[in-house]
Amino acid sequence: MAAKSLILGTGLSGLVGSRVVELLSSQYDFVNLDLATGIDITDKSQVDRVISAHPEAHGLIHLAAFTDVSKASQQKGDREGLVYQVNVVGSQNIARVAAERKLYLIHVSTDFVFDGKNPPPGGYTEEDSTHPIEWYGQTKLMAEEAVRKSGAPAAIVRIAFPFRSHFASKLDLVRSIIDKLKTDSLHPMFADQTIIPTFIDDIATALKVFLDKKPSGTYHLVGSSGLSPFDLAQKIKTTFNLPGTIKQGSFKDYAKTDTRPRQQYLKLSNAKLKRDLGVTMSTIDQALSTLKQQLSSSTKII
Ligand SMILES: NC(=O)c1ccc[n+]([C@@H]2O[C@H](COP(=O)([O-])OP(=O)(O)OC[C@H]3O[C@@H](n4cnc5c(N)ncnc54)[C@H](OP(=O)(O)O)[C@@H]3O)[C@@H](O)[C@H]2O)c1
Repeated sequence: MAAKSLILGTGLSGLVGSRVVELLSSQYDFVNLDLATGIDITDKSQVDRVISAHPEAHGLIHLAAFTDVSKASQQKGDREGLVYQVNVVGSQNIARVAAERKLYLIHVSTDFVFDGKNPPPGGYTEEDSTHPIEWYGQTKLMAEEAVRKSGAPAAIVRIAFPFRSHFASKLDLVRSIIDKLKTDSLHPMFADQTIIPTFIDDIATALKVFLDKKPSGTYHLVGSSGLSPFDLAQKIKTTFNLPGTIKQGSFKDYAKTDTRPRQQYLKLSNAKLKRDLGVTMSTIDQALSTLKQQLSSSTKII
């Protein structure tokens, strides 16, 4: 049997990364560069050491980030803080080493690089101007810029509201709604906001296409349905036949009292992904249906 190609990755133990490994490990061997494996990406020499130890690597998927948006906002503007260090300096280190070693890099970014104020009717495209309104999104945009500037052979993929059937260490939005509907404790859901939930299994499938074709540039790797959290909760309630009540909330009212800025209409278009790479992302109905099958089957899901 032919040896599997090696993929280096950061953040492979996280919400998205661990499912990517689970779904693609029959095709690739993975080496994880993260704190648990003794690699701090904010230290370029550590990044260099581990990447140069694997000259045969086929590519690097960079997922590691400081992802708690509310906690990140407490470090706003602090370039010594962990958010800037991990998201910007860490990404700079990864990109510089990838450029030096001519290693194909997939840099994972976020829909929070947009302000969500007034997206075009079809959703933000990769050509639309970015304008992050809080520190997490600002550092993620700085990371994108560092990747572009590095000269590394790289794709930047923006994901949004990723979800999966199971991951004990961190709840995603869909599982949080399921849990709260079960106990009838769901807080009011905004009807005047747009988000794009993205099934992580689709992200993994798409990343395989990136590793095969190695395109460069920016891509929106998001689900095919933009909807309000209120509508999402209704779909989840129906799909999983859950008991709880769904109250309607107002983003506009909530935003007046919130401690950090929030994006109201985060609709992104994934048309380029389909056009250039032939990748189709699930609609929310398709993804919830698959999720339901996974949750009810005995298949081992992390
Ligand atoms: N989750 C979302 O809602 C969302 C939405 C849009 C975009 N994204 C992007 O998608 C990517 C993955 O997100 P996620 O939710 O899967 O992340 P996550 O579950 O929070 O995991 C973050 C990962 O980063 C690693 N990490 C943190 N600091 C590090 C450091 N200094 N050196 C090495 N590794 C470090 C962590 O390793 P340890 O466990 O060892 O600390 C962990 O594996 C991120 O780039 C994020 O910005 C996420």
